[in-house]
Amino acid sequence: MADDATDELKKLEGQAQTHLQQCADEAALRAWNTQYFGDKGLVKAALAKLSTIPKEQRGTYGKEVNRVKEDLTRAYDAALASAKAAALQASLTANPLDVSLPGRGRPRGRLHPATQILRQIYTIFADLGFQVYRTREVETDELNFEFLNMPAHHPARDMWDTFFTTTPGVVLRTHTSPGQIHVMREAAGKPIRVILPGMCYRNEAISTRSEIQFYQVEGLVIGEGVTMADLKGTITAFARRMFGPERRVRIRSSYFPFTEPSIEVDIDWPKDDPNRDRLTKGTGWLEILGAGMVHPNVLRAGGYDPDKVTGFAFGMGPQRMLMLKHAIDDIRLFWQNELRFLRQF
Ligand code: DAH
Repeated sequence: MADDATDELKKLEGQAQTHLQQCADEAALRAWNTQYFGDKGLVKAALAKLSTIPKEQRGTYGKEVNRVKEDLTRAYDAALASAKAAALQASLTANPLDVSLPGRGRPRGRLHPATQILRQIYTIFADLGFQVYRTREVETDELNFEFLNMPAHHPARDMWDTFFTTTPGVVLRTHTSPGQIHVMREAAGKPIRVILPGMCYRNEAISTRSEIQFYQVEGLVIGEGVTMADLKGTITAFARRMFGPERRVRIRSSYFPFTEPSIEVDIDWPKDDPNRDRLTKGTGWLEILGAGMVHPNVLRAGGYDPDKVTGFAFGMGPQRMLMLKHAIDDIRLFWQNELRFLRQF
């Protein structure tokens, strides 16, 4: 009985060693390991047999089975180590590493030009005591038009080519002006001095001059005794920080439904700029924004009493300003992800 067991053990050892030598790679070795040393492995079984061996021969068998176990383990460890080394060697020769190659450049990101000009605007207005207030890009018809003193069928609505959504009464905002209502309602009667930057959308035929999406920066100041002089001073300070300390500002009468009176603001364009005539159509003056004193109906829609407070508002197109500053002649460049354009800023 014991002799049979010892013979079997010898056979098992021989078979395991042969088998091991046939293993070509790490995966095969691991399968071998499971076959012999796994929970249901053959070596495990040989060890378990110990209890069936008559007592007097048990010591001999036990020693032998342990020796086989240790030898096989050692052989396996060695085979595994050399298989790993061989695999590494193969990968190094298959894909030789050329340490003399120049390193890969790490592309450096940058802020989009529109973001850059927006931040410049935030900085200037921050110095003038303005906070940034962000509002939604999807608005109701009420907010985008009605509360801004443009009831349905008001002809002034023609100034904004609107994107309507499939939900009745919900539009993509055509300007940042509806933000005025949001900020007034949140401030609930307190004085306000904010800018409202953000994306606006218009249903335009895309051309070098118009896009269906563009940024605006709205401004809103409300308080007791706010006057047109404050508006003029604020805009002049802004224009000089943005376009140069010598800039002169010209105010023209205009019309917007949400302001009364309404104005448009021009700056004189530097005489030494070769683009001056083209940009200003020969006049030397260039429009930079629309503005005015907040209409009483708008104040009321925001929950303010026009008999107690007054305010001014303005709206500008930061991308247009950037186009002026850098003589960019195609507004479509902003959203084309054309790196040759973007890398210049
Ligand atoms: N919302 C106007 C537009 O998109 C711009 C504007 C003009 C805003 C005058 C104002 C303003 O706040 O007072 O054309």
